Amino acid sequence: MRLDRFLSEMGVETRSRIREMCRKGRIKVNGTVQKKSDLQVSPEDDIVEVDGERILFAAKEYYMLNKPAGVVTATVDTREKTVLDLLTERKRKDLFPVGRLDKDTEGLLLITNDGELSARLLSPKHHVPKKYYAEVRGELQPDAAEQFLKGLDIGDEKETLPAELVILTSEEPKEVEITLTEGRYHQVKRMIEAVGGEVVYLKRLSMGSLTLDPSLSPGEYRKLTEEEVEMLRV
Ligand code: URA
Repeated sequence: MRLDRFLSEMGVETRSRIREMCRKGRIKVNGTVQKKSDLQVSPEDDIVEVDGERILFAAKEYYMLNKPAGVVTATVDTREKTVLDLLTERKRKDLFPVGRLDKDTEGLLLITNDGELSARLLSPKHHVPKKYYAEVRGELQPDAAEQFLKGLDIGDEKETLPAELVILTSEEPKEVEITLTEGRYHQVKRMIEAVGGEVVYLKRLSMGSLTLDPSLSPGEYRKLTEEEVEMLRV
């Protein structure tokens, strides 16, 4: 891989800035200053340093973000702040969010460059449970939980797959927990609407084995631990 591509993929700088840094002698490969940014390097074997700091090659990266309300789940947006804008440290260019949370939804969002894992977590075939906490206004139909279990008509071609609804409190707004194995557009909001309520607050708590770290405030993030990544892969 070209040196400038390797460094831009690892999130050091843009390729044009990297070329400039090379010309200024700020980049070393295997201990020697390297002024040619088109040099071929082996990301796993060569030692690449920028201003004396080694840039390690990581094939895959995984972050857990506590998404705040008010940012969009996208990689780039010309007008709105995106979840990737919240990752402030050096970040590689191929990261993307796994699945979509609405702009006003908070909570667990996995950000990675691992396309295979993402496809598996999102595929309805794999039945990966996604658990949400919601605050709901309105009178829910008395058999709402049974309807969730049976599958609901929310105006799509097919009914929803069986889902769990647990009502935690009965005062307004009611607190509920919902577990789905799909990820349709506005799914929680539409399912609650189908049983007589309106979601006024929504937060994702978990996705498969991955649970939102309670020490992360909205807008904060951290890398997944090796154990968390392993657990997600099984
Ligand atoms: N369901 C919704 O309605 N919104 C989300 O953001 C996630 C699930």
